[in-house]
Amino acid sequence: MDNIFEVSFSDTLSIMSAKQGRNIAMVGASGNIGSRTLAAILETGVHTVTAISRGESNATFPAGVAVKKGDYADESFLVNALQKQDVLVIQLGFMVTGQQIPLIHAAAKAGVKYILPTEFGSDPYAPFATVFPMLAEKKKYRDLVEELGMSWIAVVNNPWFDWSLKQGNWGINVKEKKAVLYKGAEAKFNTTTLKQVGEGVAALLSLPDAQLETFKNKPVYLSSFETTQKEMLDSVFRATGGKEGDWNIVVRDATDVIAEGREEVAKGNPFAFVYEFYIAHMQDGFGGDYHEKAAKDAEILGLKAGNLDDAVKAVVQEVATGN
Ligand SMILES: NC(=O)c1ccc[n+]([C@@H]2O[C@H](COP(=O)([O-])OP(=O)(O)OC[C@H]3O[C@@H](n4cnc5c(N)ncnc54)[C@H](OP(=O)(O)O)[C@@H]3O)[C@@H](O)[C@H]2O)c1
Repeated sequence: MDNIFEVSFSDTLSIMSAKQGRNIAMVGASGNIGSRTLAAILETGVHTVTAISRGESNATFPAGVAVKKGDYADESFLVNALQKQDVLVIQLGFMVTGQQIPLIHAAAKAGVKYILPTEFGSDPYAPFATVFPMLAEKKKYRDLVEELGMSWIAVVNNPWFDWSLKQGNWGINVKEKKAVLYKGAEAKFNTTTLKQVGEGVAALLSLPDAQLETFKNKPVYLSSFETTQKEMLDSVFRATGGKEGDWNIVVRDATDVIAEGREEVAKGNPFAFVYEFYIAHMQDGFGGDYHEKAAKDAEILGLKAGNLDDAVKAVVQEVATGN
C-alpha cells in the first residue's frame, strides 16, 4: 500500500469479524450495478461466484467467475446453474425485472437460501414507495421469495449518486452548466455511489450466518452520504472552479415541476416521472432520508462513509473526459 493511512475496502473487511465465504450466483453481473457488485465480491477473496447470463448476451466476466449462459425460459438450465448456491443476487435492467419470476422459482427448486432481488433503489417502506409503480411492483418478487420458502434481503441505496449526477437527474447538468433548484424540496436525503453499493453488498454477503440472518426478509440500508441539491451544486462549483454567475441557474417550485412531469407522462412519455421521482427524495417526510437506519447497518457491515466532494470530482472528471 503506497499510503499507510489509506484503508482499502478489503482491509476494512478484514478488520471486521471473520468473513464467511459463500457460493454466490449473480444475474446481471455485467450491468451498471452488477459489475460494481461483482468487483467488490471478488475483492473479498472468500466467495465463489457464478454469473448467469442470457444465451444471446455479449456480456463477459472476469477470470475466476464461472459463467452459465442459457435461456431463462428453460427451467432445467436455471435449476442446474443454481445448484449448491447459497445466494442469488438479481440485478436485472429496470425494464426486464419480470425476468425474476423464472429465476426465483428455479432458485427455490435448487435449494438457494437467500435472494437479493432487483431492488437497489429506494426504501420499500418509505411513504413514496406506494406512489411510484416502479417501487410498488417490487413487492411481488419479495412476496414470491417468501412464499417459496426462501429469504430476501432488499438492498436500499436511493438513486445512485454518481450515475444520477452524470445524467443530470438531480436537476444539475454539469456539462452544460445548468441547474434547476427545486423550491420546497430542500430536505437532506441519502444517496450512494455505485462503488459503495457494490461494497455494501459484498460486506453483507460476507457476514457470518448468525449476522446475515438478522437481515432476513428486511431491507439493508446503504448510504455514501446525506446531502441536498444545494450542497451538491456547491460541491460541483468546488470541483470545476465554477461559480453561480457562470451557470444558468433557475429556482422553480417543486410542485410546478411535478405537475409538468405528470402532464408529459399523460402525453405518452413514461420517463418524465423521473422529475417527480427525484424530487420526492428531496422532500421532507417522504422517505428519502434514512440516515439512522443506514448508520446502524454501516456499523454492522463495517462500512465507511463516502465523501461528497470526492464523488463529485470523479463525476466531473468523467464528464470532462466523456467516459
Ligand atoms: N438507484 C438507482 O439510481 C437505480 C438506477 C437504475 C436502476 N436501478 C435498479 O438497479 C437495477 C439494475 O439496473 P442496471 O442499470 O444495473 O441494469 P442494466 O445495466 O441496464 O442491466 C443489467 C443486466 O440485465 C440483463 N438484461 C438486459 N436485458 C435483458 C433481458 N431482456 N432479459 C434478461 N436479462 C436482461 C443483462 O445481463 P446479461 O447481458 O448478462 O444477460 C444486463 O447486464 C434496476 O432494475 C433497478 O431496480 C437503480
